[in-house]
Amino acid sequence: KRPGIILGIETSCDDTGAAVVTTDRRVLGESLHSQLQIHLNHGGIIPPIARHLHEQNIGRIIREATDKANVSLEDIDAIATTVKPGLALSLLVGVKWGKDMCLKGEKPFIPIHHMEAHALTARMLENINFPYLVLLISGGHCLLAVAKGINDFLLLGRSIDDAPGEAFDKTARRLKLHNMDAGSSLSGGAAIEHYAKQGNPEAFQFPTPMYKYRDCNWSFAGLKFIALRHILREERKHGITRFYEVEGSDLVPSLPDICASFQHAVVMHLCKKIQRGMIYAEMKNLIPENNRILVVSGGVACNDYVKRGISIVCEEYGYKLVCPPKNLCTDNGVMIAWNGVEKWRENIDVVPHTELDTVDIE
Ligand code: KG4
Ligand code: ZN
Repeated sequence: KRPGIILGIETSCDDTGAAVVTTDRRVLGESLHSQLQIHLNHGGIIPPIARHLHEQNIGRIIREATDKANVSLEDIDAIATTVKPGLALSLLVGVKWGKDMCLKGEKPFIPIHHMEAHALTARMLENINFPYLVLLISGGHCLLAVAKGINDFLLLGRSIDDAPGEAFDKTARRLKLHNMDAGSSLSGGAAIEHYAKQGNPEAFQFPTPMYKYRDCNWSFAGLKFIALRHILREERKHGITRFYEVEGSDLVPSLPDICASFQHAVVMHLCKKIQRGMIYAEMKNLIPENNRILVVSGGVACNDYVKRGISIVCEEYGYKLVCPPKNLCTDNGVMIAWNGVEKWRENIDVVPHTELDTVDIE
């Protein structure tokens, strides 16, 4: 019997992704269109623009993925598509395409939760058994959970305000890093990581958020505001309105220091609460001793400084750190197809083409 073949479609935010993945963990074909550059120019994601770009690209992206995989609709066993959470206008584009293809090919539809897909991707790459710890850190999300099964997650902590990627993006925006050579094509987080490399992480003081709380929740809005205060003070000191406008050089001496100190504060805060999560998991016996694994994913997990910080906590508590490669940490079609594989094998949420009316975005 041949392995199952699943097509995955992702349009929850600003990436149009599609991929064909088999039940024996092979990525047969994938394609991705990123809207990052356009949204950088607009200073953020504008939902109708995101929808328009998804509509413009999704047909080609699916075709590229299936062409690379050398499969036709007939060969595909099911179509998995992100239905939540995300921007409604964006989600609807992928869901419509997924449903239309299911109708045409008389194939089942598998609705996918975007965050669960992030959390499960590591299982495509390595043998990882449930239950394990998972940290998702991106532009829209920040959560620590126990992955207990394919659709069974126990939430341990989350951000009560901004996600870390959001704090990175807004701080980068305020520093106008997108107007600087190296920052012009990078996401806010990646730009801050780049400039932080030349900076001193202890140059600027940041508070420890939520230190009074013994839970695993985060708050990044405060760090963002403190960064803003440092930036305003530095601008005043140097008599400029924007960092990048300094004559003769596009770098004020303190810009890398601000980036490094802010990044350091974010990492310290992340690590403190991961540590709390590990203590709690041990107390409640949530993770067996022989399965201490922390999977870290989401766009912010691309950051090497973040990964280094988390790896220190993991070492201290006897956890193995598993972080998918960058292209699988950020949004992509492969993770959706893989989540489809996981559900299809176990017959979880597999909707026949005759019942597509029951499927909707949330
Ligand atoms: O997972 P993702 O592609 O999309 C969602 O938000 O779901 O993550 C994008 C986020 C952005 O906020 C971006 O600034 C952040 O991930 N990011 C980074 C890095 N690369 C991307 N943050 C910190 N350091 C990086 N190297
Ligand atoms: Zn994501």
